[in-house]
Formats: sequence, structure tokens, C-alpha cells
Amino acid sequence: MSVMYSSITKKIWMSLMGLFLMIFLVVHLGINLLLLFDPTRELFNVVAHFMGTNPIIQIFQWVLFAGFAIHIVLGITLQIQNWIARPKGYKVKASSEDTFFSRYMIHTGIIIMIFLIIHFANFFFKAKIFHSIPEFILNGVPTGMEDMGILVVQLFQLPEYVIGYIVALLILGFHLDHAFQSAFQSLGLSHKKYTPFIKGLGHIYSIVITLGYIIIPLFIYFTK
Ligand code: HEM
Repeated sequence: MSVMYSSITKKIWMSLMGLFLMIFLVVHLGINLLLLFDPTRELFNVVAHFMGTNPIIQIFQWVLFAGFAIHIVLGITLQIQNWIARPKGYKVKASSEDTFFSRYMIHTGIIIMIFLIIHFANFFFKAKIFHSIPEFILNGVPTGMEDMGILVVQLFQLPEYVIGYIVALLILGFHLDHAFQSAFQSLGLSHKKYTPFIKGLGHIYSIVITLGYIIIPLFIYFTK
């Protein structure tokens, strides 16, 4: 009973952290899309500078890291518990409720985790640890801000990076498609009447997020 209870507690924490990460993905996408609307990169750099220096956002950033850490550790733990509970080689017949993506949450999750490490090395570490981002010069005038935008533009000129990014985002989309409705279920918010609506919302969310992020490298690669 205690094992079951703790599994349920883990699921609840996992879903809350997952939903929190989903909100973060929307905010992050909104900021990234600024790059498409302002070729000078001023808009993007001003917002990136704000996000990188505002004290409240700096605190919030640690909440976000904690959210990722909790989600990942619980996801891996729950999966290991599942593998131990279910003898190896024993194939459970997929129920009609099982979607294709639901069976690969740990696999898509681990690929996202690898993507996150690369993403951090490329952006966060360069900005926060190595301080290796050039200063943003606007119309010949130094602005005192880092040119985060040029970093994105340079990376998205490499075809291997663009392809890797798109593949990672498609995999994130698969994770999110199942995750959305699964989170509601874990929180006990499932209902014959509303579940199809939540599933539909999950499809829309994952498609919008995936396409929204993918458009950025494609736009930069083909226009810059
Ligand atoms: C931005 C990134 C991510 C978001 C927005 C996200 C979101 C979610 C959400 C909302 C769920 C549903 C939770 C539930 O069923 O109660 C979920 C499930 C899951 N996530 Fe993530 N996730 C992300 C990254 C990751 C990473 C990096 C891992 C690494 C291992 C991971 C592993 C899992 C696993 C294994 C499940 C299934 C848990 C289960 O069904 O018991 N996720 N994710």
C-alpha cells in the first residue's frame, strides 16, 4: 500500500512539474519568436537581457531547474519501478486507451534530456559561466547587453544543428501529446465527458509548440 501511495504521490508531483514545464515552454517560445519579427535582434536581446538579469526571474530560474530535476528524477524512478514490477519479457497487451506515444515516454524523455544538456551548453553556459557572448551593437552603438540573438542565428546556420533541433522538437512534441492528458489523469481530473476535450487540447498544444519552435531554425536557415 505504501509503495502504491508513494507511486501516486510521485505521479502527482511529476504531473504538476510537467504542467509547469509546459507553461514555461509557451513563454520561452513567445520570446524566441521575437527573432522572426525583428531583424535587428533588438527586441529579442532586450527581452533576453531582462530575463537574464531581473532578480525575480533569476529566482524563478532556480524554480524552473528544480521543476526539471523533479520531473526527470521521478520519471526515471517511476519507470524503473514499472520495469521491476513487470517481469522482463512479459508483454502487456496494450489497452485501447494506450496510445503509441504513451509507451515511449521514458525514451522520448531521455532524448529530451540529452537535448536539454546540449541546449544548456550552447546557450546558458556560454552566457552565465563562460561569459563568451559578444556585446550587442545596435546601429554602431554598444548597448551593454549581450547579443544572445546572434548566437541563435549562428547556430541555426549549421545544417546539422537545424536537423538535430527539429528532430529533438518532434520528439518533444510526441512526449507532450501524451503528457498533456496524462497529467490531468494523474491529478484525478478525468471524466467521460471532458477527457476527449482535454485530449484534443493536448493535440493542439503539442502541435502549436512543436511547429512554433521548428519554424525558427527553418526561417533563420533559409533567410539569413
Ligand atoms: C520540457 C520538457 C518536458 C515537459 C514539458 C514534460 C511534461 C510531461 C508531462 C505533463 C507528463 C505527464 C505526467 C503524468 O502522467 O502525470 C510527462 C510524463 C513523463 N515525462 Fe516528461 N516532460 C518533459 C521532459 C521530460 C524529461 C527530460 C524526461 C526524462 C526522463 C521526462 C520523462 C517523463 C516520463 C517517464 C513520463 C511518464 C510518467 C508516467 O507515465 O508515469 N520528461 N512529461
